Amino acid sequence: MTKSESTGLPVDTERLVDVVQDRLSEVGDLDELRSLETEVLGKKSELSLAHRSLGGLEPDARRRAGAVLGETKSRIETLISEKREELEEVSRRRQLEADRLDLTEVVRESGRGHVHLVQRTRDELEDVFIGMGFSVAEGPEAETDWYNFEALNMPPAHPARSMFDTFYLELGEPDAVLLRTHTSPVQIRVMQSQPPPIYSVMPGRAYRRETADARHTSIFHQIEGLVVDRGISFADLAGTIEIFTSAYFGPDIHARLRPAFFPFTEPSAEFEITCTICKGSGCRTCSHAGWVELGGCGMVDPAVFAAVDIDDEKWTGFAFGFGIDRCAQMRHEIPDMRILLENDVRFLRQA
Ligand code: DAH
Repeated sequence: MTKSESTGLPVDTERLVDVVQDRLSEVGDLDELRSLETEVLGKKSELSLAHRSLGGLEPDARRRAGAVLGETKSRIETLISEKREELEEVSRRRQLEADRLDLTEVVRESGRGHVHLVQRTRDELEDVFIGMGFSVAEGPEAETDWYNFEALNMPPAHPARSMFDTFYLELGEPDAVLLRTHTSPVQIRVMQSQPPPIYSVMPGRAYRRETADARHTSIFHQIEGLVVDRGISFADLAGTIEIFTSAYFGPDIHARLRPAFFPFTEPSAEFEITCTICKGSGCRTCSHAGWVELGGCGMVDPAVFAAVDIDDEKWTGFAFGFGIDRCAQMRHEIPDMRILLENDVRFLRQA
């Protein structure tokens, strides 16, 4: 311990403050700070020892030396508490950093995420129908036999059931619950949930036991349409389909209806649109017909109205259903539908 010339103390207070300052610059956390504090201000510190030596000084010298010690102590305390604040701030920031739930996503222009092409097509189709005054409804993908078949005029063993290769679920009675084979059961649910007039579209996923090929996958998407009102005719159906077709595919694409059979509509039709690839002149995609089949439609069968207690003397209606994936395929000239389900990012990025 060096004796200070000027104060008569056994410690050089200026040097002590310098040493504390140097040591503090090396302190990395609060534990280290605490032990440094004990070392420089505690009972065994140079400062405390110096305090104890005051008693041996003359009163005047004692007062001066006491003042110097007091001032030194408070300078050291200030340095330590500044360091403590600094360290607490760092540790608080570290804690926040560790606890943070980062909900932001850093996206580069080239890698921006976007909705899947099928979802985008569905959104665009909904927009077209909403613009025509329809509302949008949804139903469950796991359906009962009654909604998927029976209420749609397909009683058990009806031959039309063979159009739909069905996935049954092991739930309840055998063959009672299934993955819906089309979106038509949502028509039934909509009619049960509200009285006519009804202008509704019902998009969603459907399932069939198909062997996947360029035009079929066992999971696919449809959009169903249902109108029930007074005095609805087949002309309303044909007009609605034509307006939708040119609104969605463009003014040079038209629709035509061809007689067909569906148990839930009478009369029924298949609807075709101008081939979007050759614009009707004939190409490989449309087998040189100039037209491509998109879906089915017809006037709601009285048996369907009976299933949901709607008086067919008062109300008439039409229904239609078609593939959303098929629309995406036609509009974006996608050669193989399977690519829609494969989640190959090289395809997804283009969409
Ligand atoms: N549900 C039929 C199918 O998936 C398509 C269909 C045909 C829907 C006629 C309808 C309709 O609403 O009226 O093959």
